Amino acid sequence: MIECLNDSFPKAFLRARCAIYSRKLFIFFVKFHHFIFTQTMDKQTLFKISYGLFVLCAEENGKDNGCVINTLAQVTDEPCRVTVTVNKANLTHDMILRTGKFNVSILAENASFLTFQRFGFQSGRNAMKFYGTNAPRAENGILYWTEGANAFLSGEVISSQDLGSHTLFIAQVTEARVLDPALPSATYAYYHENIKPKPAPVATADDGKFRFRCRICGHIHVTDTPDLPDDFICPLCKHGKDDFERI
Ligand SMILES: Cc1cc2nc3c(=O)[nH]c(=O)nc-3n(C[C@H](O)[C@H](O)[C@H](O)COP(=O)(O)O)c2cc1C
Repeated sequence: MIECLNDSFPKAFLRARCAIYSRKLFIFFVKFHHFIFTQTMDKQTLFKISYGLFVLCAEENGKDNGCVINTLAQVTDEPCRVTVTVNKANLTHDMILRTGKFNVSILAENASFLTFQRFGFQSGRNAMKFYGTNAPRAENGILYWTEGANAFLSGEVISSQDLGSHTLFIAQVTEARVLDPALPSATYAYYHENIKPKPAPVATADDGKFRFRCRICGHIHVTDTPDLPDDFICPLCKHGKDDFERI
């Protein structure tokens, strides 16, 4: 009996030690994986994705509206379907959600900054964005923007996906026309380099405040803290914290 106890004691002891070491090894691997992942998650990578720029238009109960987006993508050819992703804070978002229809114009390299100001820096909730323009209507009855645009298409929403801050609309293309075949489409990078005015140097007052400039629209946010909250969004163009630079 004593022999038996003596025999099983080291085995039980070893088993317990093994369990402890494998647990420690497991925790080490989890931490190592987390370390590697955070080291390899360079947010600058996302800025390397190429995007176009577009004016997305909607109409509801006689009100015409539109906003600038960079998220149009063709996702299938047959049937011809596109997606647009729109911030829920945008009036255009609500109009499309309710009506299920939109037009989207593809902006070209000759698009003026005024187009971005008209559609991207103010909301149709407190502005008549088409006021004083002579934008034509497509077959679906919705206006489409032609100044500095090389093509437009009409979409009928067939499905939508709630993405939290944004909604992804999947749409069937019902009309598509090229307006100027010679004009190259503007990319987001082209907009930053050539369309958006270069930011004027800012006199940083010695008032103990911190200043951040939105890289998308140039809005300057003044704060008492040296960092912006993670959920901060630009009051003008609705872009997030990652698009702000400290000045
Ligand atoms: C260059 C640029 C790109 C933008 N991209 C998007 C986008 O992809 N999705 C989006 O929802 N809003 C985008 N916006 C912001 C909207 O255009 C902006 O919030 C607009 O004022 C909303 O207008 P609305 O409330 O009349 O719809 C962008 C703005 C700019 C200037």
